[in-house]
Amino acid sequence: MDGNGRWANARGLPRTAGHAQGEPALFDVIHGALDLGIEWLTAYTFSTENWSRSPEEVEFLMNFNIDLLRRRRDELDDLDVRVVFIGERDDPRVPDQLRIEMAAAEGLTEDNTTMTVVFAFNYGGRAEIAHAARRLAEAAVAADVDPREIDVDAVAGQLYLPEMPDPELIIRTSGEMRISNFLLWEAAYAEFVFTPVLWPDFDRNELARCVDEYRRRERRFGGATDAVAGPRDGTSS
Ligand code: IPE
Ligand code: MG
Repeated sequence: MDGNGRWANARGLPRTAGHAQGEPALFDVIHGALDLGIEWLTAYTFSTENWSRSPEEVEFLMNFNIDLLRRRRDELDDLDVRVVFIGERDDPRVPDQLRIEMAAAEGLTEDNTTMTVVFAFNYGGRAEIAHAARRLAEAAVAADVDPREIDVDAVAGQLYLPEMPDPELIIRTSGEMRISNFLLWEAAYAEFVFTPVLWPDFDRNELARCVDEYRRRERRFGGATDAVAGPRDGTSS
């Protein structure tokens, strides 16, 4: 969800106004995802690198998240959405009250089954892989795991949310063409759609457009498909 600050600054507003305007965009996207039958939706809300922003912006974002979870968890529950957080929530920089609201939203919605919304908060892909490595190392030291048996599935089993399927589509808004430490392990074969739309202007219609583009992609997962036979003039794709 990128471009909040630019959206606000383009209107002569403080960056925080852009974050506030990101909330209706997110909820419109959640409704749109439900309409599309999407079962897993992950939103990158705060990265392990976002602490480097001004103290005022960081404090705003923490309080905003507390407030948003209180105001909107019942609505998510009514939509039969399960809410789960991934990331370093025990980081001492995370306010206790936010930890409490995160646990409350998870507890309230834990039996919901229509869609899981994963909030990546204080999340970094490298931190997640390090977390998995630490868990496997601990298991090896405790002789619960034979290091020779540590394979891709073993690492995947120690990610923050092992039951989360790999993302099929990753959308980045605001014209930036980077992964910025998002789901590094899980994104191995994800399709990427980059859109210039700033996050506060993103909505269910933009989501549907991105999903349409995804549907036109051919996913090979490292395999190969023969191109349709045609003139060997180098113009076929
Ligand atoms: C994304 O918008 C929101 C968060 C990272 C919390 P930005 O705040 O990165 O907006 P830009 O990139 O400055 O426009
Ligand atoms: Mg940004």
